[in-house]
Amino acid sequence: MARVLVGVTGGVAAIKVPHLLRLLRGAGHEVRVLATPRALEFVTPLSLAVAAGSEVATEEAWFRPEGGALHIELARWAEVVLVAPATADALAKAALGLADDLLSATLLAGARRVAWAPAMNEAMWLAPQTQAHVERLKALGHAVFGPGYGPLAAVGEGEGWGRMLEPEELLERLNALLTPKDLEGLRLLVSAGPTREYLDPVRFLSNPSSGRQGYAVAEAARDRGAEVVLVSGPTCLPDPWGVEVVRVESALEMRQAILERFAWAEAVVMAAAVADYRPKEVLRDKEPKAAEAKTLHLVPNPDILKELGEQKGNKVLVGFAMETQEGLERAKGKLQRKNLDLIVLNWVSREGVGFGSPENEVVLLLRDGQVLALPRMAKRQVADRILDFVRTFWKA
Ligand code: CTP
Repeated sequence: MARVLVGVTGGVAAIKVPHLLRLLRGAGHEVRVLATPRALEFVTPLSLAVAAGSEVATEEAWFRPEGGALHIELARWAEVVLVAPATADALAKAALGLADDLLSATLLAGARRVAWAPAMNEAMWLAPQTQAHVERLKALGHAVFGPGYGPLAAVGEGEGWGRMLEPEELLERLNALLTPKDLEGLRLLVSAGPTREYLDPVRFLSNPSSGRQGYAVAEAARDRGAEVVLVSGPTCLPDPWGVEVVRVESALEMRQAILERFAWAEAVVMAAAVADYRPKEVLRDKEPKAAEAKTLHLVPNPDILKELGEQKGNKVLVGFAMETQEGLERAKGKLQRKNLDLIVLNWVSREGVGFGSPENEVVLLLRDGQVLALPRMAKRQVADRILDFVRTFWKA
């Protein structure tokens, strides 16, 4: 958690800043806020102060006899300055090193880390001047979050590039920025979600996997600096930013997508709940229902992870096991049969964990025989524990 100074400049997205401040505090960050006079035309100092839990630093506060060094104090206090929303003007000033207002002076006065959340009309964002300033700031080590694509504020403008990222995503991006990059250089392939095995165009066999645990692994690895490809079965989850997402449906499609990228990967985490069987025959047309009972003829799907295990080399392989009974023995068997470094045992029958839940309670079994039962924790934390072991095997 960090001391975050949020710099608010004059864009309509400033109205989202109180929500952003609350999210930052909710995530455990210590927050202060600085607003330019134009920002205060969109959002009141009181809403900012209440959401930040501290007074707002303004031009007026700066130009008081006792406020003379406020820019120096703020620059020293902040571990990171997040400018949100950032106007083209604020970007330009910082790129040029101007310091004629409290925000630009604070940035010039040695702010340690700076992140920008640009928000402006598309034409202003794409203007060569703005782009050059952004490049300059990146070269100085600043981070730039977005902007996103969507409806623009000015009437009649329609959609375009230039929307400030939503506060939730800004929090994710900031947390990622602050995460130590201990997986820098790792090429990681992750699978997640269920597969669908179609009987006909409108019916399929599947399972209740939500994909959350696999997505959490992909996101945690991204934040820790890994290059991540996520092969995902059908899920309701949005594509994580900063991750290449390959969407598939069936086990056969998943197998192909994974095998195509296996040579590239240095580690694979197979969190997908791959259907073990598929209908022998897939009908081209929808079959009308009939009164009689029906027997489905199923054939086994290839075991993707087992295939990877057979050509493992020095890649790191992590599998999952879903068990309702005799979990440890069965998981150990799978670890050996599939030639894995680590297997994550999920207890499906426990309340409040597993399928669809934000939490999980797992046991990690390592290839050297170590068994580690983790307490119930957020799937994101489970992901980090798995990745700690991936890192150890990768470095070995
Ligand atoms: N897996 C796979 N290809 C399959 C089936 C499973 O790659 N066709 C992977 C899963 O992604 C998971 C692990 O293998 O990492 C699960 O092993 P599996 O033997 O399928 O265990 P269960 O799904 O628990 O099934 P069962 O106990 O019925 O064998």
